[in-house]
Amino acid sequence: MAIRNIREDGDPILRKKSRPVTEFNERLFELLDDMAETMYEAPGVGLAGPQVGVLRRVVVMDVGDGLIELINPEITKIDGEQVGEEGCLSLPGLCGLVSRPKTVQVKAQNREGKWCLYKGEDLKARCFCHEIDHLDGILYKDKLVEGTFLQKVTEAEE
Ligand code: NI
Repeated sequence: MAIRNIREDGDPILRKKSRPVTEFNERLFELLDDMAETMYEAPGVGLAGPQVGVLRRVVVMDVGDGLIELINPEITKIDGEQVGEEGCLSLPGLCGLVSRPKTVQVKAQNREGKWCLYKGEDLKARCFCHEIDHLDGILYKDKLVEGTFLQKVTEAEE
């Protein structure tokens, strides 16, 4: 396993659309392992392929209830709304208010290629949406609640 370099806002790769994963092989497993290690080391609660310079539809997440690996994820159901603060490892030291669904259901393949269903509420729902957006070249700063701006994270919060 290895820590990969996290791409930051301004890097054009973050704005590109990722391609589906078609081969479930050692190379994918290594990518997933490296992404998890990179996320935990940062530390962060989610990381998407483009953030480590790989334009593939791959996400790792851990909002405190264990590691999830999402391959070719798709949002299949959303419900409700939540407005809350969001940050991103590609925009270090910043945060902003974003509206997301309160609950989200995601369909994704695991590293064996099997399709699985995931449900998330609150932070987990927010994280699903944020990470899947990365796969389409979208950053949370594109979706700030109208009339609000990116803020610096104060050290106490960091
Ligand atoms: Ni992010």
